[in-house]
Amino acid sequence: MKQKLKDILELAGNEISVIRDAKSLEDARVKFLGKKGKLTEVLRGMGQLSKEERPAIGKLANEVRQKIESIFAEVAAQVEKEALAVKFEKEKLDVTIPGNRRGIGKKHPLTQAIEEMEEIFIGLGYDIAEGPEIETVQNNFDALNTELNHPSRDEQDTFYITDDILLRTQTSPVQIRVMKSSKPPIKIICPGRVYRADTVDATHSPVFHQIEGLVIDKGVTMGDLIGTLKLFAKNLFGENTEIRLRPHHFPFTEPSAEVDVSCWVCGGTGCRVCKGEGWIEILGAGMVHPNVMKACGIDPEVYSGFAFGMGVERAAMGRHSISDLRLLFDNDLRFLDQF
Ligand code: DAH
Repeated sequence: MKQKLKDILELAGNEISVIRDAKSLEDARVKFLGKKGKLTEVLRGMGQLSKEERPAIGKLANEVRQKIESIFAEVAAQVEKEALAVKFEKEKLDVTIPGNRRGIGKKHPLTQAIEEMEEIFIGLGYDIAEGPEIETVQNNFDALNTELNHPSRDEQDTFYITDDILLRTQTSPVQIRVMKSSKPPIKIICPGRVYRADTVDATHSPVFHQIEGLVIDKGVTMGDLIGTLKLFAKNLFGENTEIRLRPHHFPFTEPSAEVDVSCWVCGGTGCRVCKGEGWIEILGAGMVHPNVMKACGIDPEVYSGFAFGMGVERAAMGRHSISDLRLLFDNDLRFLDQF
C-alpha cells in the first residue's frame, strides 16, 4: 500500500508537471484526486489493513494528497500565467499605428447641382413641386398645347408604355399638375428625371434631369422672366454673368425663347468651352400659352405667367468642365470623388 501511494505520487508528479492548459489540468485533478480517482481507490483498501498499520498509511496518504495538491497549485499558477501572456500578446495595442481611414460618402455632382439651383429659387420664394416620371400623354403633350404631329411625340423619340402613358420627356407636365391642383399665385420649381429614346454618347443619355419653373399671377410680364433668369444666372455662374434671349418656339409658351449665358470660362470673348461663341445655351423659357392655362382652368384674361426648363447635366458639366456626359452616370468613384 505504501508503494502504491508512492507510485501515485510519482505518476502525478510526472503527468501534472507537463500540463500546459486548464482543461487537461482539471482532467488530471479528477483522475488523481476525484471521487473515483486513484488516491480514493487506494484509500478504499484501508479497511483491510491492521489497526497498527492504519495510522501510518493514513498519514502517508494525507501527505501524498497534500503533495499532489501543491503540484496542482504550482502548475495551475503556471498555466494561468501562460494563458494571460498569450492573451496579452493577442490583445496588444500599438497606439502609434495610424488609424484606418473610413471614406465618407458625398453627394453626386448632379445632386449637388440640383440642390444649388433649388437654393437659389427657394431664396426667391419658390416652392418645390414634384411629379411622377410615368406620366399621361395628356399631361406630357396635350395639355401643354403640343399638336398631334409634333416631332417630340414620335415613338422613335419617346418611351411609350401604352398609347396614353409614357415616361415623361420633360418636367413641363408638372406645370399642368400644379396648375390643376392649386390656384394662383403659383411660384414653383420642379427638379426631376426625364426620358428620351436617345442613344448614349458624350452629350446624350436616355435618362437625364431637368428643372422646370412656373410662375402664374396677375400682371406677370416677360420683364419678370428676364429679371428672374438674370438673377439666377449671376447666382449660379458668377456676378459678371450676362444672359441673352433668342426667339424660339415651344408649344406651351408664347412668346418663347432659348436663353444663353455668357461663357463662364472666357466671360464672352470666345473660347474652347463656348466653341468661340461667347455664349452657352442653358434653358428654354417663355410666357405661358393661353391654351395651357385654359386646359388647367385658369383664365388667361385674368392671369399671366412665365415658365422655363433647363437641363441639369448640361449646367453641371459646364461648371465642372466635364467633357463627357457618360462620366456622370458611370459612378466611378475616382471620378465622383473630385466634386
Ligand atoms: N420642356 C422643354 C424641353 O424639354 C424646356 C422648356 C422650354 C420648358 C420652355 C419650359 C419652357 O417650361 O417654357 O425642351
